[in-house]
Amino acid sequence: MEKIKIDPNAFGYPMPVVLVGSVVDAKPNFLAAAWVSRVNYKPPLIAVALGKHYTNGGIRENKSFSINIPSVDQIKETDYCGIVSGKQKDKSGVFEVFYGELKHVPLINACPVVMECRLVREVELGFDTLFIGEIVNVYSEERFMTGGSPDIRKTRPFVLNMSDNTYWTLGTQAGKAWSDGK
Ligand SMILES: Cc1cc2nc3c(=O)[nH]c(=O)nc-3n(C[C@H](O)[C@H](O)[C@H](O)COP(=O)(O)O)c2cc1C
Repeated sequence: MEKIKIDPNAFGYPMPVVLVGSVVDAKPNFLAAAWVSRVNYKPPLIAVALGKHYTNGGIRENKSFSINIPSVDQIKETDYCGIVSGKQKDKSGVFEVFYGELKHVPLINACPVVMECRLVREVELGFDTLFIGEIVNVYSEERFMTGGSPDIRKTRPFVLNMSDNTYWTLGTQAGKAWSDGK
């Protein structure tokens, strides 16, 4: 089959959807982010690429941020936080929050899995900045776990398809990692 070149911004691979949180102007603020990934094993690091957003000010000021993994039940609120800026509208009432070990890291009560992160590095990429954080603590609830780990059948995360800007749930298990290739 002949390959055709397509728009690099529509590469059509599903991406995780998270809410990045920080305290800005003494209030919790969250944005939606899809350009996020674990990037180091020990210490456990996570990186998120952000444009010039209101949330960034809080990340820089407090040298910390949260990564909250929403379930399909929070699609509307997540999308809202991805459309509206805290610069124009106060988003502090969108979610009920709690605080863990780090004083200025707002964590979302309703999200099945949330992480508090300490900022360890910022990398300027041109348009975006890569914020790299060390995961200090991860919180979940018994009802979202199986055998001591978050169970995606219970946490029900969703992914973003950027080729047509749609959200998708996950399907059925397709294999077993570090096993099927043996
Ligand atoms: C599904 C979705 C994913 C997004 N992913 C990112 C991302 O990875 N990086 C980014 O800089 N902005 C991303 N955005 C845009 C920001 O969430 C949006 O500009 C937000 O309003 C910024 O909020 P703030 O100004 O309160 O910080 C995304 C938006 C949506 C709807």
